[in-house]
Amino acid sequence: MRTCMWVIALLFVFGFAWEVGADQNVPTERISGSAGDVLEDDPTGRLKVYVYELPNKYNKKILQKDPRCLNHMFAAEIFMHRFLLSSPVRTFNPEEADWFYTPIYTTCDLTPTGLPLPFKSPRMMRSAIQLISTNWPYWNRTEGADHFFVVPHDFGACFHYQEEKAIERGILPLLQRATLVQTFGQRNHVCLKEGSITIPPYAPPQKMQAHLIPQETPRSIFVYFRGLFYDINNDPEGGYYARGARAAVWENFKNNPLFDISTDHPTTYYEDMQRSIFCLCPLGWAPWSPRLVEAVVFGCIPVIIADDIVLPFADAIPWEEIGVFLAEEDVPNLDTILTSIPPEVILRKQRLLANPSMKWAMMFPQPAQPGDAFHQILNGLARKLPHAQSVYLKGGQKILNWTEGPVGDLKPW
Ligand SMILES: *[C@@H]1O[C@H](CO)[C@@H](O)[C@H](O)[C@H]1NC(C)=O
Ligand SMILES: *[C@@H]1O[C@H](CO)[C@@H](O)[C@H](O)[C@H]1NC(C)=O
Repeated sequence: MRTCMWVIALLFVFGFAWEVGADQNVPTERISGSAGDVLEDDPTGRLKVYVYELPNKYNKKILQKDPRCLNHMFAAEIFMHRFLLSSPVRTFNPEEADWFYTPIYTTCDLTPTGLPLPFKSPRMMRSAIQLISTNWPYWNRTEGADHFFVVPHDFGACFHYQEEKAIERGILPLLQRATLVQTFGQRNHVCLKEGSITIPPYAPPQKMQAHLIPQETPRSIFVYFRGLFYDINNDPEGGYYARGARAAVWENFKNNPLFDISTDHPTTYYEDMQRSIFCLCPLGWAPWSPRLVEAVVFGCIPVIIADDIVLPFADAIPWEEIGVFLAEEDVPNLDTILTSIPPEVILRKQRLLANPSMKWAMMFPQPAQPGDAFHQILNGLARKLPHAQSVYLKGGQKILNWTEGPVGDLKPW
């Protein structure tokens, strides 16, 4: 009975006007309070960024070898570079810079099937830091405290895709004073240091736009999910994946008619999200996945199942109001929890999701748009200014230890 009620009660859809303000008929709701204002901030004039010029082997050459990196969920490192080159916050005078940026593509090393291998990343990063610290005086001045790096790999600057190994490695020692811009976010985790900026993973904007369906399309799917439930081969015996949360989703709800869940990735994936009320965003190897971005862009309420996750731009986006949060151990109650949410609460979340500023904040569009993820990153950096006087080291003072870390990382790149 309940099932039917829900499906009938929720034939509402609030689509996304890609041209800001293009469709005045879409009911949207402004994000109340300071968070909404922060989301719409313009970083221009609030910070100056100096872009180091590195040999092509740290960026462009790597991309030439494998253009797939442009569509990968780690592509933010490439697009942020391109964005900064022509951004009004760029300065060519390092003496007046607030922040220093090193354009290095550490995650563009993909296996034939497209999985990124982070094994060379630490050596590459060390090599780049060596280069900037010998050719310019700015690194040594603070040992990186006024430098930021985009490290979008699974566990950021821990540079490993297995959590245990990532924790064992820890953040690359040379990056310990820098500000890290990364997709990985989990509270009290060695791979997220204080002051890092958590960003959304890259999802190709043109591709998402190409799959938009009419805004009036009813949302007839209650819960939607596509992805693995077990390990990479979806083998229940294959090992412990997603801390068991995805296995619990499958085992509890595979036969529940409210749940449209499967490992098959249909060509209508993006359309299906626009026909769904709730989109599950459980952790995988790492707590984050592109599903979160897709859910927001397609107005599907994200159901976040990843304990202690730190969500992108959490100081600007009111995630609690947009999404539904579920403890990993509560997965068996997922159906009851979702069907108990009052329709007016669902409608409010949908109206907030329809707010274009929320969607732009999740995307790295070409060309850039006001309020998009690039701008949110700059806003985050601007809010950290001015740097405390204490970050500037006294003549000759050294804090970082260049020989710390696994010996394999110390080999030249
Ligand atoms: C920065 O310090 C290192 C030693 O830690 C030194 O080798 C390098 O030459 C210094 N860079 C500059 C530009 O003086
Ligand atoms: C730097 O790290 C190496 C390796 O962990 C250690 O042997 C060495 O003592 C450290 N140096 C300093 C000055 O702490």
